[in-house]
Amino acid sequence: MDERLSPDQLFSSLSQIETEFRSDVEGAADLAGLQQIKTKYTGKKGLLTARMKALSSITDPAQKKEFGKRLNEVKNIIEETIKGKELSLREGEKERRLLTEKIDVTLPGKSTQFGRRHPINQVLGEIKDIFVSMGFGIEDGPEVELDHYNFEALNIPKDHPARDMQDTFYVSDDVVLRTHTSPVQVRVMEKRQPPLKIIAPGKVYRCDADVSHTAMFHQVEGLMVDTGISFSDLKGVLELFIHSFFGKETPVRFRPSYFPFTEPSAEVDIGCVFCKGKGCRVCKTTGWLEVLGSGLVNPRVFEMAGYDPDKYSGFAFGMGVERMTMLKYAIDDIRLFYENDVRFLRQF
Ligand code: PHE
Repeated sequence: MDERLSPDQLFSSLSQIETEFRSDVEGAADLAGLQQIKTKYTGKKGLLTARMKALSSITDPAQKKEFGKRLNEVKNIIEETIKGKELSLREGEKERRLLTEKIDVTLPGKSTQFGRRHPINQVLGEIKDIFVSMGFGIEDGPEVELDHYNFEALNIPKDHPARDMQDTFYVSDDVVLRTHTSPVQVRVMEKRQPPLKIIAPGKVYRCDADVSHTAMFHQVEGLMVDTGISFSDLKGVLELFIHSFFGKETPVRFRPSYFPFTEPSAEVDIGCVFCKGKGCRVCKTTGWLEVLGSGLVNPRVFEMAGYDPDKYSGFAFGMGVERMTMLKYAIDDIRLFYENDVRFLRQF
Protein backbone atom coordinates (compact mmCIF):
# COMPACT_ATOMS: atom_id res chain seq x y z
CA MET A 1 0.00 0.00 0.00
CA ASP A 2 3.00 2.29 0.76
CA GLU A 3 3.93 1.83 -2.86
CA ARG A 4 0.97 3.97 -3.84
CA LEU A 5 1.54 6.83 -1.35
CA SER A 6 2.83 10.05 -2.83
CA PRO A 7 6.05 11.51 -1.41
CA ASP A 8 3.94 14.17 0.44
CA GLN A 9 1.79 11.50 1.99
CA LEU A 10 4.90 9.58 2.99
CA PHE A 11 6.29 12.69 4.74
CA SER A 12 3.12 13.37 6.65
CA SER A 13 2.77 9.69 7.64
CA LEU A 14 6.20 9.97 9.28
CA SER A 15 4.94 12.86 11.40
CA GLN A 16 1.90 10.82 12.34
CA ILE A 17 4.11 7.93 13.39
CA GLU A 18 6.19 10.31 15.51
CA THR A 19 3.14 11.75 17.27
CA GLU A 20 1.59 8.34 17.87
CA PHE A 21 4.91 7.04 19.17
CA ARG A 22 5.24 9.90 21.66
CA SER A 23 1.81 9.28 23.13
CA ASP A 24 2.45 5.50 23.24
CA VAL A 25 5.68 6.00 25.19
CA GLU A 26 3.93 8.43 27.51
CA GLY A 27 1.49 5.68 28.43
CA ALA A 28 4.05 2.86 28.89
CA ALA A 29 3.65 1.64 32.47
CA ASP A 30 6.44 -0.89 32.68
CA LEU A 31 9.38 -2.42 30.81
CA ALA A 32 7.19 -5.10 29.19
CA GLY A 33 4.88 -2.41 27.78
CA LEU A 34 7.87 -0.46 26.50
CA GLN A 35 9.19 -3.56 24.74
CA GLN A 36 5.85 -3.91 22.93
CA ILE A 37 6.07 -0.31 21.75
CA LYS A 38 9.61 -0.86 20.52
CA THR A 39 8.38 -3.82 18.44
CA LYS A 40 5.41 -1.85 17.17
CA TYR A 41 7.68 0.79 15.61
CA THR A 42 11.10 -0.70 14.93
CA GLY A 43 10.37 -4.45 14.86
CA LYS A 44 10.53 -6.49 11.61
CA LYS A 45 6.94 -5.60 10.80
CA GLY A 46 7.12 -2.24 12.61
CA LEU A 47 5.57 1.00 11.36
CA LEU A 48 8.88 2.74 10.90
CA THR A 49 10.41 -0.34 9.26
CA ALA A 50 7.64 -0.24 6.66
CA ARG A 51 8.45 3.40 5.88
CA MET A 52 12.12 2.52 5.41
CA LYS A 53 11.10 -0.05 2.80
CA ALA A 54 9.06 2.66 1.05
CA LEU A 55 12.22 4.76 0.56
CA SER A 56 13.13 2.88 -2.60
CA SER A 57 9.82 3.73 -4.23
CA ILE A 58 10.70 7.46 -4.36
CA THR A 59 12.10 8.23 -7.75
CA ASP A 60 13.11 11.90 -7.38
CA PRO A 61 16.67 11.86 -5.94
CA ALA A 62 16.22 15.17 -4.02
CA GLN A 63 12.98 13.97 -2.48
CA LYS A 64 14.52 10.63 -1.74
CA LYS A 65 17.42 12.30 0.10
CA GLU A 66 15.04 14.56 2.00
CA PHE A 67 12.81 11.66 3.02
CA GLY A 68 15.84 9.55 4.04
CA LYS A 69 17.04 12.37 6.28
CA ARG A 70 13.63 12.70 7.92
CA LEU A 71 13.40 8.91 8.32
CA ASN A 72 16.73 8.88 10.17
CA GLU A 73 15.58 11.71 12.39
CA VAL A 74 12.42 9.89 13.43
CA LYS A 75 14.38 6.66 13.91
CA ASN A 76 16.85 8.45 16.21
CA ILE A 77 14.04 10.09 18.15
CA ILE A 78 12.35 6.71 18.66
CA GLU A 79 15.56 4.99 19.74
CA GLU A 80 16.66 7.78 22.08
CA THR A 81 13.20 8.15 23.62
CA ILE A 82 12.93 4.43 24.26
CA LYS A 83 16.39 4.40 25.88
CA GLY A 84 15.45 7.30 28.11
CA LYS A 85 12.09 5.82 29.04
CA GLU A 86 13.68 2.47 29.78
CA LEU A 87 16.11 4.12 32.19
CA SER A 88 13.41 5.96 34.08
CA LEU A 89 11.19 2.84 34.25
CA ARG A 90 14.10 0.86 35.68
CA GLU A 91 14.75 3.57 38.25
CA GLY A 92 11.08 3.55 39.23
CA GLU A 93 11.00 -0.20 39.58
CA LYS A 94 14.12 -0.16 41.74
CA GLU A 95 12.62 2.48 43.98
CA ARG A 96 9.38 0.51 44.34
CA ARG A 97 11.33 -2.62 45.29
CA LEU A 98 13.42 -0.76 47.82
CA LEU A 99 10.22 0.47 49.43
CA THR A 100 8.34 -2.83 49.47
CA GLU A 101 11.33 -4.97 50.41
CA LYS A 102 12.44 -2.69 53.18
CA ILE A 103 13.67 -4.57 56.27
CA ASP A 104 12.89 -3.20 59.69
CA VAL A 105 16.12 -3.94 61.51
CA THR A 106 14.60 -2.86 64.81
CA LEU A 107 12.13 -5.81 64.86
CA PRO A 108 12.97 -8.56 67.38
CA GLY A 109 14.75 -11.51 65.70
CA LYS A 110 13.28 -14.97 65.18
CA SER A 111 15.57 -17.37 67.01
CA THR A 112 16.02 -20.91 65.71
CA GLN A 113 15.68 -23.73 68.24
CA PHE A 114 18.46 -26.24 67.77
CA GLY A 115 17.97 -29.83 68.84
CA ARG A 116 20.74 -31.73 70.56
CA ARG A 117 21.77 -35.24 71.34
CA HIS A 118 20.29 -36.88 74.41
CA PRO A 119 22.75 -36.85 77.35
CA ILE A 120 22.86 -40.67 77.33
CA ASN A 121 23.85 -40.67 73.67
CA GLN A 122 26.43 -37.96 74.28
CA VAL A 123 28.06 -39.97 77.06
CA LEU A 124 27.80 -43.16 75.00
CA GLY A 125 29.68 -41.35 72.23
CA GLU A 126 32.35 -40.21 74.69
CA ILE A 127 32.82 -43.76 76.05
CA LYS A 128 33.08 -45.17 72.52
CA ASP A 129 35.65 -42.50 71.53
CA ILE A 130 37.88 -43.36 74.49
CA PHE A 131 37.90 -47.10 73.72
CA VAL A 132 38.25 -46.59 69.97
CA SER A 133 41.30 -44.43 70.70
CA MET A 134 42.75 -47.45 72.58
CA GLY A 135 42.19 -49.63 69.50
CA PHE A 136 38.90 -51.32 70.46
CA GLY A 137 36.40 -52.14 67.70
CA ILE A 138 32.63 -51.75 68.11
CA GLU A 139 30.22 -54.71 67.97
CA ASP A 140 26.53 -55.21 68.65
CA GLY A 141 24.04 -57.98 69.20
CA PRO A 142 20.27 -58.55 69.47
CA GLU A 143 18.21 -57.06 72.30
CA VAL A 144 15.77 -59.97 72.13
CA GLU A 145 18.20 -62.73 73.00
CA LEU A 146 18.28 -66.46 73.47
CA ASP A 147 18.45 -67.64 77.06
CA HIS A 148 21.51 -69.58 75.87
CA TYR A 149 23.55 -66.45 75.10
CA ASN A 150 22.21 -64.32 77.93
CA PHE A 151 22.82 -66.99 80.59
CA GLU A 152 23.89 -70.54 79.70
CA ALA A 153 26.94 -69.70 77.57
CA LEU A 154 28.02 -67.24 80.27
CA ASN A 155 28.19 -70.04 82.81
CA ILE A 156 24.79 -69.27 84.34
CA PRO A 157 22.76 -72.51 84.10
CA LYS A 158 18.99 -72.54 84.63
CA ASP A 159 19.15 -73.38 88.35
CA HIS A 160 22.10 -71.08 89.07
CA PRO A 161 21.48 -68.69 91.99
CA ALA A 162 23.20 -65.91 90.01
CA ARG A 163 20.07 -65.64 87.87
CA ASP A 164 18.51 -63.86 90.82
CA MET A 165 21.00 -61.00 90.32
CA GLN A 166 19.08 -59.89 87.25
CA ASP A 167 15.29 -59.50 87.10
CA THR A 168 14.63 -60.93 83.68
CA PHE A 169 11.83 -60.23 81.20
CA TYR A 170 11.06 -63.60 79.62
CA VAL A 171 9.58 -63.62 76.09
CA SER A 172 9.28 -67.41 76.23
CA ASP A 173 11.06 -70.23 78.04
CA ASP A 174 14.25 -69.76 76.02
CA VAL A 175 13.94 -66.19 74.77
CA VAL A 176 14.59 -63.14 76.98
CA LEU A 177 15.11 -59.40 76.66
CA ARG A 178 18.85 -59.34 77.27
CA THR A 179 19.61 -58.33 80.87
CA HIS A 180 23.17 -57.25 80.01
CA THR A 181 25.44 -56.79 76.98
CA SER A 182 27.59 -59.80 77.99
CA PRO A 183 25.89 -62.14 75.44
CA VAL A 184 27.66 -60.12 72.72
CA GLN A 185 30.97 -61.46 74.15
CA VAL A 186 29.88 -64.99 73.28
CA ARG A 187 28.46 -64.08 69.86
CA VAL A 188 31.70 -62.35 68.88
CA MET A 189 33.89 -65.23 70.13
CA GLU A 190 31.77 -67.70 68.16
CA LYS A 191 32.35 -65.90 64.87
CA ARG A 192 35.92 -64.64 65.30
CA GLN A 193 39.29 -65.93 66.47
CA PRO A 194 41.63 -64.09 68.87
CA PRO A 195 43.15 -61.56 69.14
CA LEU A 196 39.93 -59.71 70.05
CA LYS A 197 39.57 -56.19 71.36
CA ILE A 198 35.97 -55.01 71.25
CA ILE A 199 33.32 -53.02 73.04
CA ALA A 200 29.59 -53.67 72.64
CA PRO A 201 27.31 -50.76 73.55
CA GLY A 202 23.53 -51.20 73.62
CA LYS A 203 20.17 -51.33 75.39
CA VAL A 204 19.45 -53.88 78.12
CA TYR A 205 16.27 -54.65 80.07
CA ARG A 206 15.48 -55.55 83.67
CA CYS A 207 12.20 -55.72 85.51
CA ASP A 208 13.13 -53.02 88.00
CA ALA A 209 12.19 -49.38 88.64
CA ASP A 210 13.26 -46.81 91.25
CA VAL A 211 15.53 -43.71 91.51
CA SER A 212 18.49 -45.65 90.19
CA HIS A 213 16.80 -48.31 87.99
CA THR A 214 14.69 -48.17 84.83
CA ALA A 215 13.30 -51.18 82.93
CA MET A 216 15.46 -50.20 79.94
CA PHE A 217 18.97 -48.82 80.28
CA HIS A 218 22.28 -48.87 78.42
CA GLN A 219 25.46 -50.82 78.97
CA VAL A 220 28.86 -50.91 77.35
CA GLU A 221 30.52 -54.32 77.35
CA GLY A 222 34.24 -54.78 76.83
CA LEU A 223 36.22 -57.86 75.83
CA MET A 224 39.89 -58.39 75.12
CA VAL A 225 41.26 -61.84 74.31
CA ASP A 226 44.77 -62.83 73.25
CA THR A 227 47.64 -64.97 74.46
CA GLY A 228 49.11 -63.77 77.75
CA ILE A 229 46.44 -61.27 78.80
CA SER A 230 46.62 -60.74 82.56
CA PHE A 231 44.80 -58.88 85.30
CA SER A 232 47.29 -56.02 84.96
CA ASP A 233 46.04 -55.45 81.37
CA LEU A 234 42.51 -55.18 82.73
CA LYS A 235 43.63 -52.71 85.40
CA GLY A 236 45.64 -50.65 82.91
CA VAL A 237 42.81 -50.33 80.36
CA LEU A 238 40.11 -49.55 82.93
CA GLU A 239 42.22 -47.04 84.85
CA LEU A 240 43.08 -45.25 81.61
CA PHE A 241 39.40 -45.24 80.68
CA ILE A 242 38.23 -43.88 84.05
CA HIS A 243 40.88 -41.18 84.09
CA SER A 244 39.92 -40.08 80.57
CA PHE A 245 36.22 -40.09 81.42
CA PHE A 246 36.14 -38.65 84.97
CA GLY A 247 39.47 -36.79 85.02
CA LYS A 248 43.07 -37.71 85.88
CA GLU A 249 42.76 -37.00 89.58
CA THR A 250 39.88 -39.48 90.13
CA PRO A 251 40.84 -42.25 92.63
CA VAL A 252 40.20 -45.81 91.33
CA ARG A 253 40.11 -49.07 93.24
CA PHE A 254 39.47 -52.71 92.35
CA ARG A 255 37.38 -54.65 94.84
CA PRO A 256 36.97 -58.47 94.74
CA SER A 257 33.54 -59.53 93.49
CA TYR A 258 31.74 -62.37 91.81
CA PHE A 259 30.36 -62.94 88.30
CA PRO A 260 29.79 -66.45 86.92
CA PHE A 261 31.47 -65.53 83.61
CA THR A 262 34.69 -64.03 85.03
CA GLU A 263 37.27 -65.47 87.42
CA PRO A 264 38.68 -63.68 89.29
CA SER A 265 36.11 -60.88 89.25
CA ALA A 266 36.38 -57.29 90.42
CA GLU A 267 34.06 -54.40 90.96
CA VAL A 268 35.66 -51.07 90.03
CA ASP A 269 35.02 -48.13 92.35
CA ILE A 270 35.88 -44.46 91.96
CA GLY A 271 36.28 -41.90 94.73
CA CYS A 272 32.82 -40.45 95.44
CA VAL A 273 32.24 -37.54 93.04
CA PHE A 274 29.72 -35.98 95.43
CA CYS A 275 31.73 -35.76 98.68
CA LYS A 276 35.23 -36.23 97.19
CA GLY A 277 35.74 -39.33 99.33
CA LYS A 278 34.72 -37.82 102.68
CA GLY A 279 31.62 -39.99 102.94
CA CYS A 280 28.04 -38.95 102.17
CA ARG A 281 24.52 -40.26 101.63
CA VAL A 282 25.17 -41.20 97.97
CA CYS A 283 28.28 -43.31 98.69
CA LYS A 284 26.71 -44.62 101.92
CA THR A 285 29.56 -42.99 103.90
CA THR A 286 32.18 -45.25 102.24
CA GLY A 287 33.73 -42.49 100.09
CA TRP A 288 33.59 -44.87 97.09
CA LEU A 289 31.11 -45.41 94.22
CA GLU A 290 30.86 -48.59 92.19
CA VAL A 291 31.11 -47.87 88.45
CA LEU A 292 31.63 -51.18 86.67
CA GLY A 293 31.95 -54.94 86.86
CA SER A 294 34.95 -56.76 85.42
CA GLY A 295 37.19 -59.79 85.56
CA LEU A 296 39.30 -62.28 83.65
CA VAL A 297 37.17 -64.36 81.29
CA ASN A 298 36.20 -67.63 83.00
CA PRO A 299 37.85 -70.61 81.21
CA ARG A 300 34.40 -72.28 81.18
CA VAL A 301 33.13 -69.44 78.94
CA PHE A 302 36.08 -69.87 76.58
CA GLU A 303 35.37 -73.61 76.36
CA MET A 304 31.70 -73.05 75.54
CA ALA A 305 32.64 -70.49 72.84
CA GLY A 306 35.16 -72.93 71.32
CA TYR A 307 38.37 -71.16 72.45
CA ASP A 308 41.22 -73.14 74.01
CA PRO A 309 41.50 -71.83 77.61
CA ASP A 310 45.06 -73.14 77.89
CA LYS A 311 46.11 -71.03 74.95
CA TYR A 312 44.09 -67.85 75.42
CA SER A 313 43.26 -65.55 78.28
CA GLY A 314 41.33 -62.32 78.39
CA PHE A 315 39.35 -59.81 80.38
CA ALA A 316 35.82 -58.48 80.21
CA PHE A 317 33.99 -55.59 81.76
CA GLY A 318 30.53 -54.05 81.72
CA MET A 319 29.28 -50.62 82.75
CA GLY A 320 25.94 -48.85 82.95
CA VAL A 321 25.82 -45.73 80.75
CA GLU A 322 23.05 -44.06 82.79
CA ARG A 323 25.09 -44.59 85.94
CA MET A 324 28.23 -43.13 84.32
CA THR A 325 26.22 -40.11 83.17
CA MET A 326 24.66 -39.60 86.61
CA LEU A 327 28.08 -39.68 88.27
CA LYS A 328 29.65 -37.39 85.70
CA TYR A 329 26.92 -34.75 85.98
CA ALA A 330 25.82 -35.37 89.60
CA ILE A 331 22.26 -36.38 88.65
CA ASP A 332 20.41 -38.09 91.48
CA ASP A 333 17.39 -39.62 89.69
CA ILE A 334 17.74 -41.92 86.65
CA ARG A 335 14.10 -41.33 85.63
CA LEU A 336 14.96 -37.75 84.56
CA PHE A 337 16.61 -39.20 81.44
CA TYR A 338 13.33 -40.63 80.20
CA GLU A 339 10.74 -38.03 81.17
CA ASN A 340 11.63 -35.87 78.15
CA ASP A 341 11.48 -32.63 80.10
CA VAL A 342 13.33 -30.23 77.78
CA ARG A 343 14.35 -28.04 80.73
CA PHE A 344 16.40 -30.98 81.98
CA LEU A 345 17.65 -32.15 78.58
CA ARG A 346 18.74 -28.65 77.48
CA GLN A 347 21.38 -28.52 80.20
CA PHE A 348 23.68 -30.93 78.35
N1 PHE B 1 27.26 -58.21 82.80
C1 PHE B 1 27.58 -57.74 84.12
C2 PHE B 1 26.35 -56.98 84.66
O1 PHE B 1 25.48 -56.63 83.93
C3 PHE B 1 28.75 -56.81 84.10
C4 PHE B 1 30.03 -57.50 83.74
C5 PHE B 1 30.41 -57.60 82.43
C6 PHE B 1 30.85 -58.07 84.71
C7 PHE B 1 31.60 -58.22 82.08
C8 PHE B 1 32.01 -58.70 84.40
C9 PHE B 1 32.38 -58.77 83.06
O2 PHE B 1 26.26 -56.73 85.86
